[in-house]
Amino acid sequence: MTADEIRKAFLDYMTERGHEVIPRAPLIPRDDPTTLFTGSGMQPLLPYLLGAEHPAGSRLADSQTCLRVQDIEEVGDNRHTTFFEMLGNWSLGDYFKDEQIPQIWTFLTERVGLDPDRIYVSCFSGDPEHGIPKDEEAADVWTRLFDEAGVSADRVDVGTEEHAAAVGTDGARIAFYGKKNWWCRGGSAADMPVGEPGGPDSEIFYLFPNVEHDRSYGEHCHQNCDCGRFIELGNSVFMEYRRTETGFEHLPRRNVDYGGGLARIAAAAMDSPDVFRITLLWPIIERLQELTGRSYEDDTRAMRVVADHLRGAVFLGVDGVRPSNKAQGYVMRRLIRRAIRFASDLGLEQDFFTEVVPTIAGIYEEHYPEVGAHVDEVTAVLAKEEQAFRRSLRKGLRQLESYRATGVSGRELFLLSDTFGFPVELSTEEARTRGIAISPDWRAEFDEQLAAQRQRSQRATTLHV
Ligand code: ALA
Repeated sequence: MTADEIRKAFLDYMTERGHEVIPRAPLIPRDDPTTLFTGSGMQPLLPYLLGAEHPAGSRLADSQTCLRVQDIEEVGDNRHTTFFEMLGNWSLGDYFKDEQIPQIWTFLTERVGLDPDRIYVSCFSGDPEHGIPKDEEAADVWTRLFDEAGVSADRVDVGTEEHAAAVGTDGARIAFYGKKNWWCRGGSAADMPVGEPGGPDSEIFYLFPNVEHDRSYGEHCHQNCDCGRFIELGNSVFMEYRRTETGFEHLPRRNVDYGGGLARIAAAAMDSPDVFRITLLWPIIERLQELTGRSYEDDTRAMRVVADHLRGAVFLGVDGVRPSNKAQGYVMRRLIRRAIRFASDLGLEQDFFTEVVPTIAGIYEEHYPEVGAHVDEVTAVLAKEEQAFRRSLRKGLRQLESYRATGVSGRELFLLSDTFGFPVELSTEEARTRGIAISPDWRAEFDEQLAAQRQRSQRATTLHV
């Protein structure tokens, strides 16, 4: 199945099961000043998860476009992308664990056709300090489903990821983790912001047995190991708590919040541990191969970064963001500049955005007509930014090289950002790649310069994400 077919199959399946399909929310949250981007399907639904009535009812589904830039430097491996689509379904006080787990299992194993014997899961090991029990209920439902499929379903308590890596799981199908299986926007139960909803979750992983475990990630591989042997396909959150000043209270209704990575499910469906091989990304890689005359096999990381970042910038443009020095515009600028930087590693020194953006639009315009509607305007915005940055890039790199003998300080990194438009994350990354020493105090020095400049000019602030 292609990614488009999987998206459609999910929405059709959820419709059959009484869900209303809702449109995606833009990448820029409408009424949420706490976050720059829509980073999960649940974010636009927060008021309803907290108890408000949703006009479309208590069973909802969608495919939500998301952007997460926290892991931007991890883009380049086989599965991290800044932009992604999250297939989501929600029960707002309707069904709970005993319906959600079989529902998503049936979708993955019967509709997408994934091999039950390669599915592994994780459940919450409990939080005695906050009075939240171990999630045996979810594990019992999984055990029944694995048993029915004739797949062994041993359980193991691992607690932390470090512990799992140190002692291993013996291949257990169901692993209980602590913090890792508690979902809320603030991280763990302990540092959850007051008022936020959260709860135990149960993640679903797909095993790629031909990927060798890489010991640099720990002695033993396990569900949450980062070596790429297991890929997380989705997560069902059993959202039943709300953080209070003193602890937790039960939400007025128990909800389910499921999010699954479309690209990862599509990669599993084609039995490829590399998400860049799926139909939403491969045409971009092919275009880059044509333009550069290089092969994906030889220049994997750079091609992945360019494809991912340009796609993210296109969707930001479609959702109305324009490159600038603050907030979302700064992130868009950073994606664009990083794409140009990595493209030059592929020998692409001339402008190329106008050659690739139509390919990206072509992939998405059928399902998201707004992409086709805005493609010309967005191409023009990106091309203009590309021309402007390319002029500075060469000069900036020369300047950076001039610090080779002495190492580069925060003050000089500030100069690079201010004069040549080099986002500081890009210049530090560049310095590391080139083996140019960076002052250990660069961040403080940089911030000092930034604060002084702000005082001087009262200019728009630069937000670092
Ligand atoms: N909101 C949940 C997540 O992002 C589904 O994992």
